Amino acid sequence: MRIAIANAKGGVAKTTTAIYLATAVTDRYGETTATVYDADPQSSASLWADAAETDGTGLGFEVRPANLSTLGRLAAQGHGGWDFVDAPPQGRLLEASIRSADFVVIPTSDSPLDLQQAWAMLDEARKTTSAAVLIVRAERNTTAFKQTEQALRDAATPRFDTVIPKRQEIKKALGSRPARTYEYRDLLNELEQVRRDMTGEER
Ligand SMILES: Nc1ncnc2c1ncn2[C@@H]1O[C@H](COP(=O)(O)OP(=O)(O)OP(=O)(O)O)[C@@H](O)[C@H]1O
Ligand SMILES: [Mg+2]
Repeated sequence: MRIAIANAKGGVAKTTTAIYLATAVTDRYGETTATVYDADPQSSASLWADAAETDGTGLGFEVRPANLSTLGRLAAQGHGGWDFVDAPPQGRLLEASIRSADFVVIPTSDSPLDLQQAWAMLDEARKTTSAAVLIVRAERNTTAFKQTEQALRDAATPRFDTVIPKRQEIKKALGSRPARTYEYRDLLNELEQVRRDMTGEER
């Protein structure tokens, strides 16, 4: 299963989500089952992996840089494990990231103001593949969070039940191997269900 993590909006935890999901897969199935493809020219995922290596631990999975050629090759390839593509905010690399994927995760903050970009990304992604919105860095007791959930309900937006709360531990894990994967484990459960549904459809 190849999952692209995409949103034109910056700083919505795309890289964090890619690294945490790959860590959750590695914790569950062992090393070599997850790969992160870093398609963002900012190279944040690669920098994270390098920093973890310098730390001495490493991430436990590979982070590979991905250009247009890499993504084109991926799109044509079968794959038994779990690939996560950390997509850039725009351009041909974003398009190629989406085309390479079986499913697109669109992280968005718990601010209703950010939903326009999430919806635009969702429309774009669903031209070629399936996609759903993931609320990240959430503060559940705020009006903004409740309004965000309501707006998603009103628009019948496909979304994950899992919500990733704002956590200092997640913020601090940047550049090291996450010690715990928190709600990203639940997100992986949901993605496994997506995968089962997809393989069921193909039969
Ligand atoms: N659940 C969380 N709780 C607290 N902070 C978080 C959480 N998830 C991500 N962050 C922080 O939010 C910031 C942005 O995250 P990240 O770099 O993953 O976003 P991005 O979408 O990849 O950004 P860019 O557009 O620059 O690629 C980082 O400082 C990260 O540590
Ligand atoms: Mg990033």
